[in-house]
Amino acid sequence: MQMPETVNVLLIGGGAREHALATAIARSPKLGTLYATDTTNPGIAKLAQQVDAPATTKELYRLVQFCDRENIELVVIGPEDPLADGWADTLSKKANGSPRLVFGPGAKGANLEADKSYAKQMMRAASVPTAEGRIFKKFDQAQEFLKTRDEVYVIKATGLAKGKGVIVPKTNQEAIAAAREMLVNKAFGDAGKTILVEEKINGTEVSVLALLDGHNILVLPPCQDHKRLLNNDEGPNTGGMGAFCPADTISEPIMHQIESEVLVPIADALRRDEIDFRGVLYAGIMLTPGGPKVLEFNVRFGDPECQPLMTRLQSDALELLWATAAGKLDQIDVQYTPQSCVTVVLASKGYPESPKTGFPINGIEDAEAIEGVSVYHAGTKLNDAGTLVTSGGRVLSVTALGDSMEQARQRAYEAADKIHFEGMQLRTDIAKDAPVATA
Ligand code: AMP
Ligand code: GLY
Repeated sequence: MQMPETVNVLLIGGGAREHALATAIARSPKLGTLYATDTTNPGIAKLAQQVDAPATTKELYRLVQFCDRENIELVVIGPEDPLADGWADTLSKKANGSPRLVFGPGAKGANLEADKSYAKQMMRAASVPTAEGRIFKKFDQAQEFLKTRDEVYVIKATGLAKGKGVIVPKTNQEAIAAAREMLVNKAFGDAGKTILVEEKINGTEVSVLALLDGHNILVLPPCQDHKRLLNNDEGPNTGGMGAFCPADTISEPIMHQIESEVLVPIADALRRDEIDFRGVLYAGIMLTPGGPKVLEFNVRFGDPECQPLMTRLQSDALELLWATAAGKLDQIDVQYTPQSCVTVVLASKGYPESPKTGFPINGIEDAEAIEGVSVYHAGTKLNDAGTLVTSGGRVLSVTALGDSMEQARQRAYEAADKIHFEGMQLRTDIAKDAPVATA
């Protein structure tokens, strides 16, 4: 299928990841109209028209009708939930049965993220290096196993748990308590009715994302995320408090190793399972003394990793997303700015457990006046009085380009300093230990 002169796009999702995607898509001269399911995000609202159909799994046929009516030729799905719920399967067919392009895998492919036991089986079958793990459905058996071990194990809900389903304990007593929370007390509902008890491994974490189009793999520049809430990787796990790109923590040979030992075998395994995967394969990797090992797969852009990735992208983002969905990645050449990019997340007081929201936000314009700075919206909205207020845990992604990582970092923090809302939390060490990138 040839890319038309102009393409109408539907973007699904309403976070800073999707604001960054919308910003990149809106730069394309090939964009017809950009529609979005969530323009309560004021950043997305400036770039896209609101879809006038519900965006729910139950009434997905209405979104199909909307896409047919407005000639949507490409649907871009940002978050994991609609992917796991099979939206790509449904939206990839017009009501008359003819195909529509969707960026994002169908439900079977999304299982790589939505079912950690499936991901583990697939990694084993494909000999992908990963932490050793066992699956348990019964608490007594998990407890029995943990009691007999000297080394500490990590406890993971196998289903989607909004980034909270992984407990990294200090002792196996804590591990047993976490297993009880999930299997007996159903702390994560169905997502935790099966658990993965996994060997605890150590090392620097990196996010390696690749685009898969059903035939080809295009590896994106590596990123590093900062998952813990507080400086020095302390405090609880979060969705991500900041990121930088490129992560020169990974040397060229290790990137090749990750490509040949992780990404290619998984792409092959997906094909063997007859899964036509078109979207992002995100490998969360720990660089251990014994080599890179996979901690998890996601089937979407990382948030916040997407923000520096899209900000550095110089090629036409719409062409790139189209080529991925159309199976034509081999026909495309992707360019990034040689500049480095740093994203600092500004979060609400109480995040991640119970964010306090509804506070006015000031200073975004001043922040964006700084050279190289973009501010992507996540948990923000306009209230009834038209004032911009906080409305979620992660509020803004302050993103800056610079000729060096240090310059990008300085600009991001200078920009973050201009922004104020009550109870604002941020880490002050994002990209602090990033290796010096060659600009
Ligand atoms: P995940 O959602 O599986 O990436 O896990 C969330 C975070 O928990 C990771 O980013 C790691 O920091 C940590 N983690 C997950 N699995 C392990 C493991 N096997 N050993 C040590 N830390 C882990
Ligand atoms: N930043 C990690 C994630 O998107 O899952």
